[in-house]
Amino acid sequence: MTEAKSAERKKPTITSLFKKVADGQQITWLTCYDFPTAYLQDQAGMDMILVGDSLGMTILGFDGTLPVTMGDMIRHTQAVRRGAPNVFLVGDMPYMSYQPSVETAIRNAGRFMAEASCDAIKLEGGVEMCDRIRGIVDAGIPAIGHLGLTPQSVSALGGFRVQGKGAEQAKRIIDSAKALEKAGAFMILLEMVPDRVCKLITERAENCIIMSLGSGPHAHGQLLIYHDMFGLYPKFKPRMAKVYGNAGEVILNGLKQYVREVTSRVFPQQDNYFTIPDEEFDKLLKMLK
Ligand code: KIV
Repeated sequence: MTEAKSAERKKPTITSLFKKVADGQQITWLTCYDFPTAYLQDQAGMDMILVGDSLGMTILGFDGTLPVTMGDMIRHTQAVRRGAPNVFLVGDMPYMSYQPSVETAIRNAGRFMAEASCDAIKLEGGVEMCDRIRGIVDAGIPAIGHLGLTPQSVSALGGFRVQGKGAEQAKRIIDSAKALEKAGAFMILLEMVPDRVCKLITERAENCIIMSLGSGPHAHGQLLIYHDMFGLYPKFKPRMAKVYGNAGEVILNGLKQYVREVTSRVFPQQDNYFTIPDEEFDKLLKMLK
């Protein structure tokens, strides 16, 4: 898409996202944490961007998301908004930015809206987080729930693994989805939930958009982690991520070539540096005598 076309593109709204669902169209959603990638995602016509607290892993190199702060999130979300003015932008509430109380949740959700021009926030958790969702929505802030594998609770969940494989756990996820919808969430992300459980939740949703991350094709749309799609996360590649290109390999080859060229004096060539006119240089040499 050209820049002009991107500028013509209308930023999705909650109303237009619901219309897509009603028209049987899928919603596209990716994570993003920086200005240049946000620019590319906007140019590609992405509906939504999530500035996920996964930035703790993909950008900051931690083994999990718990060390991520509101300061980290706001800074990166601002950069993404500058790069992607035409995308529906979601700020991901980091660990302990909403768990302590409804008031904490509202204040931090408000920071995403006021300081980073977000269109909505996302937080993890089911029935137990309904009062946070209700408080945030009552404050006029669109809220998205997140069920299934919720990385902030990875220790309690026993690792990064599929959630809802057993009937009882699946029932709890289905009940939580309905409770979040009733509390006012306009969208729910299902992460690593079995496809048929995702289908049941999607079919039962009345006023709520259901999105899938590794939960199969029956949701209203799909989310992927950008770094997994392009070979940019060196520690592991989750099964659910499809690789759309190996940017990591391209960059590594370029870096190796740079090292070779500098050490062998192939770089820089004349195009890569600046010169001073002869007469000015002669003048300079005289001044230095
Ligand atoms: O932080 C994030 O990117 C997320 C996804 C894993 C859904 O919450």
